[in-house]
Amino acid sequence: MFDRLTAQPADKILALMQMFKEDPRPTKIDLGVGVYKNAEGVTPIMQAVKTAEKQLWEQETTKSYVGLVGDPGFSDAMIDLILGDAVPRNIVAAAATPGGTGAVRQAFEMIRMANPEARIFVSDPTWPNHLSILKYMGMEVVSYRYFDSETRGVDFTGMMDDLGALRSGDVVLLHGCCHNPTGANLNLVEWQSVIDLMQKKGAVPMIDIAYQGFGDGLEEDAAATRLVAASMPECLIAASCSKNFGIYRERTGLLMAVSQEASQHGLNQGTLAFLNRQNYSFPPDHGARLVTMVLQDPSLRADWASELEEVRLSMLGLRQHLADELQQRTGSDRFAFLAQHRGMFSRLGTTPDLVEKLRAEHAIYMVGDSRMNIAGLNATTVPILAQAIVEAGV
Ligand code: LMR
Repeated sequence: MFDRLTAQPADKILALMQMFKEDPRPTKIDLGVGVYKNAEGVTPIMQAVKTAEKQLWEQETTKSYVGLVGDPGFSDAMIDLILGDAVPRNIVAAAATPGGTGAVRQAFEMIRMANPEARIFVSDPTWPNHLSILKYMGMEVVSYRYFDSETRGVDFTGMMDDLGALRSGDVVLLHGCCHNPTGANLNLVEWQSVIDLMQKKGAVPMIDIAYQGFGDGLEEDAAATRLVAASMPECLIAASCSKNFGIYRERTGLLMAVSQEASQHGLNQGTLAFLNRQNYSFPPDHGARLVTMVLQDPSLRADWASELEEVRLSMLGLRQHLADELQQRTGSDRFAFLAQHRGMFSRLGTTPDLVEKLRAEHAIYMVGDSRMNIAGLNATTVPILAQAIVEAGV
């Protein structure tokens, strides 16, 4: 049987992780996978998470099953964090999932179940695993223009033109904040135009929000998602706790299905439970419980929010530092966009050849489409990267 298998393409982000590991050069710099690193190059456990973990160890008395959609306390806390009071709680169905990727996968499953004809409109570019999962599931993908390679901002006109092809029932996959891989984001006026268009076309938004708190702040980063949830008849929201709680390996995420029609809630909730049961039964609990404890305890929550704010500000500082170093070296504002981008990533906007040159000659690792993880930098490596970018002729 196994001899009938064919080799699958390696995920390019994960392949890069492996290459970096194997590179013996001591000066190597990892700007690949989206993991936050502090100035010492360490991905720390957040203090509030560590405290919650200690409390949990002391208080937890059983490891028995929790529930097919996870602990309702987790859903409540996350819905509150992401949606605030944008919509009433009784119209949000929710299920815990293994990470944000689990939420994305379950969202696609729910779409396919409800409407097998739905086409999924995705930004060009988007997180490569969106495309990989959709392909694997055999769902039809239509890409819409998103990144303007001249300005390195959003090609909003191109995006709206391409979304003009939406048909009723199609789904538009949008990044709630901190677009991955580009770092270029819509402003709220543009979001409103996208919402108006989706309403006119009868399309359904699906939001992937994996970096709340990494862009402009916890509330600011949720604003677009809240606007969508409050304005559209229906939407799906896939959320990740990996980054903003720093619990990558715990696999903690939440899928929400919002329907303005309150009578739809029971069916949505039951469907999410069914889909969890089919795919992995009970979702992981440990990370979700830590998140719930942090969000429910005012002192842990304040501690977490301030540590997250430090992370956010340090990334903004690195962005500005890199833009300044490049400004000094090139005498131009060509790289000013780096300070405008938000979140963990920026797309440098150069060719795969030059990305490869940076890797081969300078031991600088970024994804082939020139996505850089800004959080992989520090005060020492910023000037090294700036110099390498100039020397490579980017
Ligand atoms: C990334 O984009 O680097 C992260 O979301 C990690 C991943 O799973 O690809």
